[in-house]
Amino acid sequence: MIDRSRKEVLYRSLMTDVQALLEGERDPIVWMTSLACLIHHKMGFFWVGFYRVIDGELVIGPYQGTVGCLRISFDRGVCGACARRRQTVVVSDVHEFPGHIACDSRSQSEIVVPVFDAAGNLRAVLDVDSTVVGEFDVIDQTCLEQLVSLMKSLQWTEES
Ligand code: SME
Repeated sequence: MIDRSRKEVLYRSLMTDVQALLEGERDPIVWMTSLACLIHHKMGFFWVGFYRVIDGELVIGPYQGTVGCLRISFDRGVCGACARRRQTVVVSDVHEFPGHIACDSRSQSEIVVPVFDAAGNLRAVLDVDSTVVGEFDVIDQTCLEQLVSLMKSLQWTEES
């Protein structure tokens, strides 16, 4: 588990990397791919990726980690709960979350953050999994929400 002070330093550095790499870029796939890669490698989290909202369903997008479930309906799992509530969901221990979908049994805790466009439409969710119980706290929530808020003004299309 990353300790609090180190976590803050890493997220600050991550924000600098994201701004430097993606300055002026407006393609959602470029953003999702780059964010998944940067978060996974900088923070060392086990699985980092996006599910896109397509025809009322969550469909796998760019990710880093082991094979993820391909499609998740809004009434299933932590990702579905995030999409339904339109709010970040933090799960300290996935075994205690009814309906959690185990794509890989090594995942022990999880945070899922909604991604909105400028009009407030839900476009995707960012799913981050850790092999450690209780990995995610308010620091992760604040920093990941800040990162995905940068995606508001992208050129979202129905296929993104
Ligand atoms: N655990 C998620 C499913 C996605 S995988 O973790 C990559 C869920 O319960 O929604």
